[in-house]
Amino acid sequence: MTRVTVQPMDLELEVEDGQTVMAAAHAAGYVWPTECEGNASCGLCVSIIREGLDNCGEMPEDERETLQRTMGRVDPSRRLACRLTVSGPVSLTKRGVRPKEA
Ligand code: FES
Repeated sequence: MTRVTVQPMDLELEVEDGQTVMAAAHAAGYVWPTECEGNASCGLCVSIIREGLDNCGEMPEDERETLQRTMGRVDPSRRLACRLTVSGPVSLTKRGVRPKEA
């Protein structure tokens, strides 16, 4: 279990080993921007890693392909939250993350 901080809302997420950041946000009751529902194809979940780049899990091939297609390049500090796993504290920026409506 490790901690991911999501700015600008200053959300602290507990992320389990092997769990993606987006899955942890869903489990905690938050909505993360998406159209593909976490299938690594829409690119809308992309997040900017501010701290803890070394704690981010390896980038899988489907994430790499989607980043290349949607952003025109692959940059280690831009990660898809639906594929991002962590092994230590990470701070990232993602606008549009919000509590699920009741
Ligand atoms: S949710 Fe669509 S690419 Fe991550």
